[in-house]
Amino acid sequence: MKASAPGKIILFGEHAVVYNRPALAVPVTQVHVDVEVLDSPRKGVFIHAPGIDLHAELNSLPANHPVASVILKVFKLCGISQTPDLEINILSTIPVASGLGSGAAVSVALIRALSSYYLHSLSDNETDELAFEVEKLHHGTPSGIDNTVITYNKPVYFIKGQPMEIFKVGRPFTIVIGDTGISALTKESVGDVRSLWLRDTVNFENYFNEIAQIALIARRSIESGRPELIGELMDQNHALLQNLTVSSPELDRLVEAARSAGALGAKLSGGGRGGNMIALVEQPKAESVADALISTGAKRAIITEISQESAPQE
Ligand code: PMV
Repeated sequence: MKASAPGKIILFGEHAVVYNRPALAVPVTQVHVDVEVLDSPRKGVFIHAPGIDLHAELNSLPANHPVASVILKVFKLCGISQTPDLEINILSTIPVASGLGSGAAVSVALIRALSSYYLHSLSDNETDELAFEVEKLHHGTPSGIDNTVITYNKPVYFIKGQPMEIFKVGRPFTIVIGDTGISALTKESVGDVRSLWLRDTVNFENYFNEIAQIALIARRSIESGRPELIGELMDQNHALLQNLTVSSPELDRLVEAARSAGALGAKLSGGGRGGNMIALVEQPKAESVADALISTGAKRAIITEISQESAPQE
């Protein structure tokens, strides 16, 4: 039994979303996790995930290991009380700890492949909730945006604790994603923002409010078919993320390089400190912006088209 899940980028609102402000995120189908569940001739559940250097039998992993915990939760939901004999292959093209949602994508693909193997079909809502439980093990206090956009595989307007909304993309637009190649733990940047917020609550609340305004205007611009307007909003959101201390010299350099190469705007995306940045470009300039990112030190650049429809999942 096979299932896939896409990566994601946050267009606007990371970090502020942890403090109940809105954020916009979209799936990125050029990168994905593919999970295959097979009957095994050997006793036990063998997990092969070369991308995270994991080759282990389920019972040798701690129960709160992100992969083990997904498997155990699905077994429980499907009423499997005795350890079955399975091989589980997890292949991912999403770089880890880089803001592209690799952890949530592993959870979603694994939940879908395993539950289908047991002919126990789960709704998107159930899949999303289960993946959120696992996100808590990765991140501590996640907003839930990653598991939501990856489960639904659609552009998502997200406020923590509220039913998510799928937003309309009035006209497709092009984003170039640049990877600093530096892995950074979201849990740490989220923790640092929390300490600073506790010490400097008034200013941090103001930054979050400004980010919330930007996310609202961005949603309107995208829905009304004027995505070119979000370039400047990206620049503003990046400056606010710098105020939150979650940018880094490498991210700033890539953001600058994208702008100099003709992008309409650019910002870091996700937890920050490392990981990825995104730039809004006019389609014909996509290749030259991607080249500029690579020559400024990006480990890779992905060009992605954001539209209402994303690629179907298996
Ligand atoms: O680093 P990522 O892509 O997993 O994004 C995290 C987004 C944050 O807003 C920083 C944290 C969260 O839980 O929403």
